[in-house]
Amino acid sequence: MVERIKAIEQEALGALGSVNDLTSLDQVRVRYLGKKGLLTELTRFLGSLPEQERPRFGAVLNEVKTKLEGIIKDKKAALENTALGQKLKGDALDITLPGAGVKRGKLHPITQVMDELIDIFQRLGFSIAEGPEIESDYYNFEALNIPPHHPSRDMWSTLWIDADKLLRTHTSPVQIRVMEKQKPPLAVIMPGRVYRRDADITHSPVFHQLEGLLVDQNVTFGDLKGTLTAFLHSVFGKDKKVRFRPSYFPFTEPSAEVDVECVMCEGRGCRTCSNTGWLEILGSGMVDPNVFKYVKCDPEKYTGFAFGMGVERIAMLKFGIDDIRLFYENDMRFLRQF
Ligand code: FA5
Repeated sequence: MVERIKAIEQEALGALGSVNDLTSLDQVRVRYLGKKGLLTELTRFLGSLPEQERPRFGAVLNEVKTKLEGIIKDKKAALENTALGQKLKGDALDITLPGAGVKRGKLHPITQVMDELIDIFQRLGFSIAEGPEIESDYYNFEALNIPPHHPSRDMWSTLWIDADKLLRTHTSPVQIRVMEKQKPPLAVIMPGRVYRRDADITHSPVFHQLEGLLVDQNVTFGDLKGTLTAFLHSVFGKDKKVRFRPSYFPFTEPSAEVDVECVMCEGRGCRTCSNTGWLEILGSGMVDPNVFKYVKCDPEKYTGFAFGMGVERIAMLKFGIDDIRLFYENDMRFLRQF
């Protein structure tokens, strides 16, 4: 009988050795120690044994049962511990917490306005060209009919790099680069960054211009006015007041500057428009025949118009911004509004 108990014990120990989850552990417990378990059955059998054999048999049976119960208890605690560890690991992400919103980036307001301006001119049939920001005296001044020592150089507060190189003061040098490569008819816009020794609420040392050039036979000042008026109506709407004011640029003749009614004061006069009621946004004119000579284009055959506008000024008018410096401070509270 004792051998039988020992055999069951060995079998149970073997089964417990290969258990690695709570369900199979419980199956082992039920098989040996459950109500109808193998060892429980033997306990019932105890009563039918001769009286003198009962104590020895009972003692061995109890010893085996206690041993197995102990092993099962320890094993259960260990398996529960592992299961808890795994659960905690899986719950490290609390899916009930609100998600961290992904902040979407947006284009800078100046880029947005530049894109809009380019789009309008592309719809009018203009193509795009670009030029370098570090320019030579020749392209920035001389080929634009501004010889050395000419007083009109004072119109551009230039940042020089050396005696010949400078940070371009306007996008007009790209006109020369385009006409050197392309023969008329041509209609081109030239966007880009420009630099001047200028700083106040409407002037920035770094700002953006959009240059335009159209050259063909029989181009007139009427074409210039018609094109720019169509453009301005498209940007500001037909109700905004616009004026063409006679002006001077060495590379255009005749020349005109274009002003738009100040949006801050609706033309009454304020600090943004220096009490004039108007904000100047662009310079323009008919290409001077001397410029055509520099690029070997026949001024007897061709005429053209050109213009250069300040993108920041247009953005100020569109968004009602009274200080140009706001565009460059990178204050997120300002930028998020666009
Ligand atoms: C020019 O730069 C000429 N190249 C424009 C031109 C092109 C005339 C082709 C004729 C033919 P002006 O210096 O006026 O012109 O500048 C043009 C525009 O740039 C101005 O009307 C203004 O809107 C803007 N602007 C000028 N200086 C600044 C500045 N410091 N900060 C921001 N915008 C400026």
